[in-house]
Amino acid sequence: MIDTIRQTADYIRSQVEHIPETAIILGTGLGALVDHIEDKQFIPYKEIPNFPLSTVEGHSGNLIFGKLGQKPVMAMQGRFHYYEGYDMKQVTFPIRVMQELGVKILCVSNAAGGMNKEFRVGDIMIITDHINLFPENPLRGRNDDRLGPRFPSMTNAYSPELIKKADEVADELGMRVMHGVYVGTPGPTFETKAEYEYFRIIGGDAVGMSTVPEVIVANHAGIKVFGVSVITDLGGKEITVEPTHEEVQKAAQEAQPRMMKLISELVNRI
Ligand code: HPA
Repeated sequence: MIDTIRQTADYIRSQVEHIPETAIILGTGLGALVDHIEDKQFIPYKEIPNFPLSTVEGHSGNLIFGKLGQKPVMAMQGRFHYYEGYDMKQVTFPIRVMQELGVKILCVSNAAGGMNKEFRVGDIMIITDHINLFPENPLRGRNDDRLGPRFPSMTNAYSPELIKKADEVADELGMRVMHGVYVGTPGPTFETKAEYEYFRIIGGDAVGMSTVPEVIVANHAGIKVFGVSVITDLGGKEITVEPTHEEVQKAAQEAQPRMMKLISELVNRI
């Protein structure tokens, strides 16, 4: 696998003058955050050797290089979801390429359903931890010690240092941000009422269909992670509104400017 990763990284290096140390994954409905990146260079996924193609509605597939404020960043506009049929190695392949390129910090964003009763639609939740409910771990299989340890710790899967900095930023901006545990599920079904309830009882605050595989691999790779969810819908036994993809997109879009401010300020301080 390492040869494939290197081939892809070599291609990217041949296209881009400066490889940033900070990468951002733009989740559902958050792809327009790219508008805030300046001096942009786009590389469509379909031109990148060994990259899977993004299929889902609302996700365009581009790797973007540019500046967010003063900071050089690399952004993934669109990610690969397990529910689309990709295997875990494909879902997390871009993270391996980032590792090979020398990325040190990964900011992940996603849309998620809220189970925490204090949450409102449109809230931004800083991910403090996750619960992996995917049927498979992306690190399953023979471990390549050149990529990371066999049994990586997940104790600080979301960098406490970055969370602290983000809290300071939010405070200064007067922005309401929540903290919470993200439950990662394979999807593509949204949850039953009982499932939302169950996820809350086991310690979850929000649930979504992404992020966890990428975060596991980033931690294995020694890349520090910062994660944020936009709460796009609420779930639980007393919630009667059904979530739809359109509603998720709409709520994510509405939260986009706030999310951007937070991420942009944060990466400019690290
Ligand atoms: N469940 C799972 N994934 C989601 C949700 C949800 O309620 N909202 C946005 N992504």
